Amino acid sequence: MPHQAASSPSIPTIDIAPLFGGNQRDVDHIAESIADACKTVGFFTVVNHGIAPALIDSMFQESKNFFARPLTEKMSISNDKSPHMRGYFPVGAETPEYEAKGDLKEGFDMCSDLPPDDPDVLAGATLHGPNVWPPGLPGFKRTMTEYHAQMLHLSRRLLAVFARGLGKPDDFFDDKLTKPLAQLRLLHYPPQHGPVSREQMGCGEHTDYGTIALLSQDIEGLEILAKDGSWITVQQNPAAFIVNIGDLMARWTNDRYVANLHRVINASGRDRYSAAFFLDPDYHAKIECIDTCVSADAPGKYAPIIFGEYAEAKLDATFQFRQAEPAAAVSA
Ligand code: OGA
Ligand code: NI
Repeated sequence: MPHQAASSPSIPTIDIAPLFGGNQRDVDHIAESIADACKTVGFFTVVNHGIAPALIDSMFQESKNFFARPLTEKMSISNDKSPHMRGYFPVGAETPEYEAKGDLKEGFDMCSDLPPDDPDVLAGATLHGPNVWPPGLPGFKRTMTEYHAQMLHLSRRLLAVFARGLGKPDDFFDDKLTKPLAQLRLLHYPPQHGPVSREQMGCGEHTDYGTIALLSQDIEGLEILAKDGSWITVQQNPAAFIVNIGDLMARWTNDRYVANLHRVINASGRDRYSAAFFLDPDYHAKIECIDTCVSADAPGKYAPIIFGEYAEAKLDATFQFRQAEPAAAVSA
């Protein structure tokens, strides 16, 4: 398969310090840079994002501690037991269609923690509910809760700039994200030795299904498909988050923005850890092509959808256990 040496010339790095107290012209400039990146490669990195390096370090340390626990202990909180898909999933649980063996990665999912009497939880809205936590690791819960809260704040701030780049008011997305689906996914990629094929990768090539994702990686491994068909390795920068948009944002923008294919190959010989934070709308949010993205030249391509229904269909296509036993997701 074509493979380019580590360099990422076409993935812009954007300094977002002005979002936290800068002047409006600088914020406009950031909005333009983000819009340009989303129209072309669908990926960019942000620096000066305001999340303390010490919190990112703790997040990775707690993640390593968790994944180092025995498999039986991790399986005691496996996400096929949670009606809301919270908790652990083992190597092979996620399988792109073409990948015979399943991804060579294990993970842990948490979202905003909702009480059992929340109306959406009572109504059985997919992914809405309480988190599950590994036993005996109080620092893990504390750190991930803090990291999740700060990433939610940062990604909301970024969406306000997305709105500006789309010619909408900064608060355009707010009423679609009153109780957003905000998911933190910790991932561990064991080292992959020998030749790598499409049979199994750390994470097979995919586009994300949602709105925006902010990724932190501890070592390189993420690759993005370039226009010429080669794969670009995203260089590791501990001070940066890698931001990309998913299928829903492409749809929302009437395909003005690109949800780019990406994958993970961990050929480093070491264990690799990453943390992906996904910000998505409310379950009940109606997603229709944003009017500034529709014109006589670019007529609206997509009918309105309800986000929660769209997300359910996407999850069914990704998780083995949801395909095998659709009832497991609601009966556990
Ligand atoms: C994802 C993803 C990349 C990584 O979780 O959707 O693309 O480096 N992760 O873990
Ligand atoms: Ni992804």
